[in-house]
Amino acid sequence: MLNSRTKLYGVIGSPIAHSISPKLHNGLFRYYGLNAVYLAFDVKDIAEAFHGIRGLGLGGVNITLPYKERTLGLVDKVDADAEAVGAVNTVKNNGGILYGYNTDVFGFEETLRRIDYLGKEITVVGAGGAARAVIYALYKLGVKRVNLMNRTMDKAAKLREQFERIIEIDCHRLDAAHVVGHTDVLINATSVGIDGISLPVDIAPMGKGWVVDIIYFDTPLVKKARSKRLDAINGMVMFVNQAIRSFEIWTGIKCSECLALSLLGEKV
Ligand code: ATR
Repeated sequence: MLNSRTKLYGVIGSPIAHSISPKLHNGLFRYYGLNAVYLAFDVKDIAEAFHGIRGLGLGGVNITLPYKERTLGLVDKVDADAEAVGAVNTVKNNGGILYGYNTDVFGFEETLRRIDYLGKEITVVGAGGAARAVIYALYKLGVKRVNLMNRTMDKAAKLREQFERIIEIDCHRLDAAHVVGHTDVLINATSVGIDGISLPVDIAPMGKGWVVDIIYFDTPLVKKARSKRLDAINGMVMFVNQAIRSFEIWTGIKCSECLALSLLGEKV
């Protein structure tokens, strides 16, 4: 029941029409009997949107593409993960002070816990914001070195420089078959595959191990990996866990992965 005390939350991005975050967060608000609602906002000017958050007193928002980096400069405080990654995906309005968090890092840490990754040869594909969250999560869970494959080598070199004090990164082109051949855990952190057709990298040389995608459905890469009898996991675990952490930041309630997945009609 919406009334004059209903608290407003939402997700800000562009495009946003296909976001599954409203389904999940509204399901959680209902499940826990909270008087709150979560909407999707297709925003063209992120700075203007932040005037709105402050002016209307929203409880909090998620931030998605293409605004995660810009948001860092629009909040009053940021947590350690957001600072390290250089991106904010969750904002909490604490009595007019906006706190920025990066819960993608937590989401990916939860994904990694399902995989045998320690002491393995790990390759990350991509050098954008998502790749930074993935590499920072790898560092937090004790990984000392990764291969990084990217289309644009300049961007890969920049990322290596940014993280050089915490993790060793070896940069390679997307066609570096010898790197793929030695990889035990290959992580796609690009958007390639969202179209349901494209592959970010050729995994033919991979003979063992895990393929992980941050895209939250079975991409051609994930399907290809399974057809080769490799272990594979898509981005749904990362997605639900970043949402679980955002929900906890806003409400103090820590919901289970099982509940979040069932609200989405998913299982992993
Ligand atoms: P995000 O925040 O989701 O990581 P981003 O910062 O724009 O988004 O980064 C997108 C990543 O996907 C980059 O690594 C990009 O490669 P470039 O650095 O060469 O731009 C990669 N990417 C996107 N489209 C691609 C494509 N068609 N082929 C190869 N890589 C692609």
